[in-house]
Amino acid sequence: MMSKFMEWVDARFPATKMWEDHLSKYYAPKNFNFFYFFGSLALLVLVNQIVTGVWLTMSYTPSAEEAFASVEYIMRDVEYGWILRYLHSTGASAFFVVVYLHMFRGLLYGSYQKPRELVWIFGMLIYLMLMAEAFMGYLLPWGQMSYWGAQVIISLFGAIPVIGADLTQWIRGDYLISGITLNRFFALHVVALPIVILGLVVLHILALHEVGSNNPDGVDIKKKKDENGIPLDGIAFHPYYTVKDIVGVVVFLFIFCFVIFFFPEMGGYFLEKPNFEAANPFKTPAHIAPVWYFTPFYAILRAVPDKLLGVIAMGGAIAVLFVLPWLDRSPVKSMRYKGWMSKVWLLIFCVSFVILGVLGVLAPTPGRTLLSQVCTFLYFAYFILMPFYTKLEKTKPVPERVTG
Ligand code: HEM
Repeated sequence: MMSKFMEWVDARFPATKMWEDHLSKYYAPKNFNFFYFFGSLALLVLVNQIVTGVWLTMSYTPSAEEAFASVEYIMRDVEYGWILRYLHSTGASAFFVVVYLHMFRGLLYGSYQKPRELVWIFGMLIYLMLMAEAFMGYLLPWGQMSYWGAQVIISLFGAIPVIGADLTQWIRGDYLISGITLNRFFALHVVALPIVILGLVVLHILALHEVGSNNPDGVDIKKKKDENGIPLDGIAFHPYYTVKDIVGVVVFLFIFCFVIFFFPEMGGYFLEKPNFEAANPFKTPAHIAPVWYFTPFYAILRAVPDKLLGVIAMGGAIAVLFVLPWLDRSPVKSMRYKGWMSKVWLLIFCVSFVILGVLGVLAPTPGRTLLSQVCTFLYFAYFILMPFYTKLEKTKPVPERVTG
């Protein structure tokens, strides 16, 4: 009965072909480790954001007069509204935790290198869109930090010569951040950007499945195949990795639920304290800082004394990641076989990124500004020097087969 039905479908739509190409006959390297959980977890968090977002939209009102109160209404009166909101707000932070670890895996194993440049570029576009999505979502509760955070970020566009002032007005749709701005951010946050992100995720996975996954050894498993053309070091994604990924999902959900039930605001890092006060255009909060996932870039912005140069440095810090595949000139992919210089620079980069993240949360002092300047310098040095140290260093021989 079922096979007859599938025959009928397959004659009209490539259902079985897609299942085989992407799951049951997609051969992935058998040595995936911990870091390979985060792609499927990113998909899980994406679905969580969409589902909880749709439900929140049912009770949220996108107007300057009612937005703040409608969020309070969701928290207090809507059935299970509090958990919907926390799933979404904590979900945003979880998204960035997962995506940062996912990107770190790319740096560790050279997953961005040939032939996966497009996988990386689509990933970077997702990251960019994710930042825009999170930024616009944060305005919606119309709290003090929503308002003043948006004020700081939108005013950055004002630093652009000639068109700056007009551009900020165009983004806001008004002379100041108002209900008009809130309305357009709402439209972009719930309709436009989720569509773009979903489309990019499809492209990301199609590009990956075209060339096949990398692995912790950086060995190309397609080089050694059996008589049926199946890679010797490959295993079918389904059932092997679908089952393995369920383990990751269960562990992730334990941690995620623990945070939602016990620390949903994470001491003001996931939902900042001033945001429990309604937006007031006449009262600037004492200290304005973005949510933790933006703070490394915010620290880079503040490290540069000139506003325009600061904006350029901040934009450059993200833009440089796009060209990473062409900066790494190492003959090997994985950090396991790269030389000591690559290892030391990756460590310096990660430490600088974390320090910048911490500095971005704190109010600036002369000492902290100096430290953020040093870290900004090291952040860029990692990329700018990469063509040299990856070419100069002595690499270890890569094995023929994956090492497990
Ligand atoms: C919504 C966000 C994202 C989703 C749902 C997503 C999904 C996935 C999935 C399912 C995989 C295959 C499984 C895995 O290797 O873990 C993957 C691989 C990959 N992703 Fe993402 N991704 C996202 C964001 C990003 C970002 C921001 C980057 C980097 C800028 C990125 C770079 C990569 C790379 C390089 C691979 C191939 C890794 C390898 O084969 O070693 N992804 N992604």
